[in-house]
Amino acid sequence: MCGIVAYVGNRQATPLLLEGLKRLEYRGYDSAGLAVMTPDGLKIARSVGRVSVLETMVENMDAADGTLGLAHTRWATHGAPTEYNAHPHTGMTRSGHRVAVVHNGTIENYATLKKYLTEKGQVFDSETDTEVLAKLICELYQGDLEKAVQAALREVNGTYGIAAICENEPHTLVCARKGAPLIIGVADKSYVVASDAAAIISHTSQVISLDDHQVAKLCAGPEDRLGDGGPWSVQFKTTTIDNIPVTQEVTRLDFELEQIELSGFKHFMHKEIFEQPDALRNCLRGRLDHRDCRVVLGGLSRYSRELVRAKRFILTAQGTAYHAGLIGEYLLEDLAKIPARCEYASEFRYRNPIIEPDTVAIAISQSGETADPLAALREARDRGALAIGAVNAVGSTIARETDAGVYLHVGPEIGVASTKAFLGQVTVLTLITLYIGKRRFLSDEVVRTYLRELERLPNYAERVLEQFDSIGKATERCVDRDNWLFLGRGYNYPTALEGALKLKEISYIHAEGMPAAEMKHGPIALIDKGMPVVFVAPQGSQYDKVMINIEEIRARGGRVLAVATEGDQAISNYADEVFYIPSVPEPLQPILSVIPLQILAYHAALLRGHDVDKPRNLAKSVTVE
Ligand code: F6R
Repeated sequence: MCGIVAYVGNRQATPLLLEGLKRLEYRGYDSAGLAVMTPDGLKIARSVGRVSVLETMVENMDAADGTLGLAHTRWATHGAPTEYNAHPHTGMTRSGHRVAVVHNGTIENYATLKKYLTEKGQVFDSETDTEVLAKLICELYQGDLEKAVQAALREVNGTYGIAAICENEPHTLVCARKGAPLIIGVADKSYVVASDAAAIISHTSQVISLDDHQVAKLCAGPEDRLGDGGPWSVQFKTTTIDNIPVTQEVTRLDFELEQIELSGFKHFMHKEIFEQPDALRNCLRGRLDHRDCRVVLGGLSRYSRELVRAKRFILTAQGTAYHAGLIGEYLLEDLAKIPARCEYASEFRYRNPIIEPDTVAIAISQSGETADPLAALREARDRGALAIGAVNAVGSTIARETDAGVYLHVGPEIGVASTKAFLGQVTVLTLITLYIGKRRFLSDEVVRTYLRELERLPNYAERVLEQFDSIGKATERCVDRDNWLFLGRGYNYPTALEGALKLKEISYIHAEGMPAAEMKHGPIALIDKGMPVVFVAPQGSQYDKVMINIEEIRARGGRVLAVATEGDQAISNYADEVFYIPSVPEPLQPILSVIPLQILAYHAALLRGHDVDKPRNLAKSVTVE
């Protein structure tokens, strides 16, 4: 989704802003722009398409020199992806100074504000809500950008991460957030502000995360300007939008630059698929206590009594994380014997949900910034639920707003199609289930078995990855087909949903996932000669039933691809292609059986000539509704 990078310091801003924008490309965008404060005032460039287009435009611009600037990648919400709708947006103060603003989020009352500003004589060039904010800041400007931003944000309903600069204050950058992430990197003699740590890590790992309704004023300039001693000085100040001073802690980013670089892989998705064994190792590290036969989850220890006493679990998420949540629902009911429901966060938050006493709500999210799970979690907590997070991004909004949580620790996920985060989400939900189950009904013997099997998963995942090329060959044989089905039963049903999502989002092939038994209630009408049907069919309690479903597809000429348990030779008599996973207890199967489906989707996208890391219309983190 939209990305912000802003800089104030002692270096040239333009190359730094462009580098930052490139690091945010993975999030998805349709246009980009930047503004730099030069000795002649603001210089602005905006373009539709890739950051490389903007880069060429800036190269051809004369004198975009300056040490203060801001930049943006836009994912259209208000108005089409055009140059005039791209950020930064500007306005003119009464004193004749231009202000430039970049913004993530949505201003809900922008129409009312626009009417007010139009009556005041402001003329708008774009269809965006951001331009309204820029003009409002100008309208309220009385010589102090920080105060004007605070005043403007007091008038705004909606969500925002913003950065603003003004020609009258050539060494000052003001930024603020509510509901959209914004992080301030604190480097030597400079500050780098970004909506995503990926744009900061090459400069510094020291960061400040703003909270909602907070405004930061960042200044960097020659000493005579700031009167602070030394040749170049920096100043930093945080307040609320009501101008109440707040103190913010400096924390350390929990990843290194190389983790967000391709390191020889062709795509981030490729890299992240292969990182999965290590992602599992990191997710499990220190959490399996074989000696005392228990799961150690420090992040939950304060609430262990509430968790054990819980009468109901609600899991909420979107997309891939929702599929992980569905598996969590099965795990909690099956192993911990607690009623559990996984719901789309976007539905849950608006359906006036009944939260009974002793309910635990778990928000599952890779980014920790997705708008709907965040809102669903707030809704559940306001109605009395204990709020737990299963989140990857350390320090993200969901992580900070929960009562307690468990980090996935799978490392930064850059690929737009989520892969290793899914494994982390299912693993964490398994750990939570065992953590509670052990304190409720589960015998030591059962817990011991799971601990042992969990420990083996990283090596097992490595074995599945060995089929990368053969899965590619199998994909080649049916990639020309435009409609696919993914079927599974029990724990393997959410995996089927995830397989279908992976395929459609990066290869643009239409795919549907469903419980295998549901196929007979309508979708079987779609089956014709050669239609690919992927069965997630490792051996387990419903294996025989799945085999019957496979027969039904074959009888109608469908092409069967199956994920099966190693050693199951019989299935090759029924399926045209078989991908194998090592034998593990049923509840752990999704962690392995999803891997061949990710690989299949990856190959299908490449074979169809698509850019796997930049799928059309998609954003990595959906921070608006
Ligand atoms: C699919 C995908 C999305 C995300 C969803 C939730 O590959 O990446 O469906 O899973 O947008 O994102 P997070 O987990 O960041 O809340």
